[in-house]
Amino acid sequence: MSKILSNRRVSKDFYLMRAEHANGARMGQFYLLRAWKHYPVLSRPVSVFDADGATLSFLYKVVGRGTEIFSGLEAGGEIELRGPLGNPFPDVTGKVAMVGGGAGVAPFYLAAKQLKAGHPQCRVDAYLGFSDDAFLVDDYRQVADRVLVNVKGFVTDEIEPAGYDHILTCGPEAMMRALYEKCERAGLAEKLYVSMEKRMACGVGACFVCSCKTRDGNKKTCKDGPVFKGTAVFG
Ligand SMILES: Cc1cc2nc3c(=O)[nH]c(=O)nc-3n(C[C@H](O)[C@H](O)[C@H](O)COP(=O)(O)OP(=O)(O)OC[C@H]3O[C@@H](n4cnc5c(N)ncnc54)[C@H](O)[C@@H]3O)c2cc1C
Ligand code: FES
Repeated sequence: MSKILSNRRVSKDFYLMRAEHANGARMGQFYLLRAWKHYPVLSRPVSVFDADGATLSFLYKVVGRGTEIFSGLEAGGEIELRGPLGNPFPDVTGKVAMVGGGAGVAPFYLAAKQLKAGHPQCRVDAYLGFSDDAFLVDDYRQVADRVLVNVKGFVTDEIEPAGYDHILTCGPEAMMRALYEKCERAGLAEKLYVSMEKRMACGVGACFVCSCKTRDGNKKTCKDGPVFKGTAVFG
């Protein structure tokens, strides 16, 4: 069990939880979180928002029973964390756009931080789409070179794919598909990596609940993903 250091509300529906946990988490990986014994049956997958080797942070939206239980946890309490799981975003450099929508903004704090730390010369633009009020924007400004915020619109409208060497995205499937189509129209689909958020059970490749259709057949989002080439999923 890991000790919770803080768990604060950052907007109407979103919370940011930080817990003690030695880790070597990479951008785009996730953990299975659990704060109950029997019900709900399954642990819940949540992306790593931040990681510093000794602690982990998770940005999560309250959508159902599991996340509601997380939102009631307090500093000093405990949570079970299993991970890091899944494949991270690729370690790219050059001009990089990160496009997140809703809970899909979560992996891009660590992604911007780790890419800039590994490649100080690379340029990271974060495009953040919110359906309600924007939050944590100043935090993203500390790790990215530029932060563009879209509230209640289409964050994909803001981006010009030709301006980037690589584009990473996470969020609602319709948003990621729209971004893929925009890249494809410009002949730039190869630049795009998508992080899929399928429902999960085991989280380690044993059950197929998280099956994702790709150009190369059905893949397990938890083990083969959650990060895939955009062309593999939407091509
Ligand atoms: C790899 C991965 C990373 C994730 N990272 C984050 C994150 O960083 N922050 C965050 O807020 N959420 C994240 N999610 C989604 C999160 O796992 C779900 O919101 C959570 O499991 C819901 O649990 P619940 O018990 O509160 O809701 P439930 O009662 O299980 O479901 C409530 C509603 O949410 C929908 N839902 C549940 N799970 C998912 C899912 N995986 N994808 C889409 N819709 C879902 C259900 O269809 C239902 O409508 C991630 C999911 C995956 C697979
Ligand atoms: S959740 Fe079981 S195989 Fe992915």
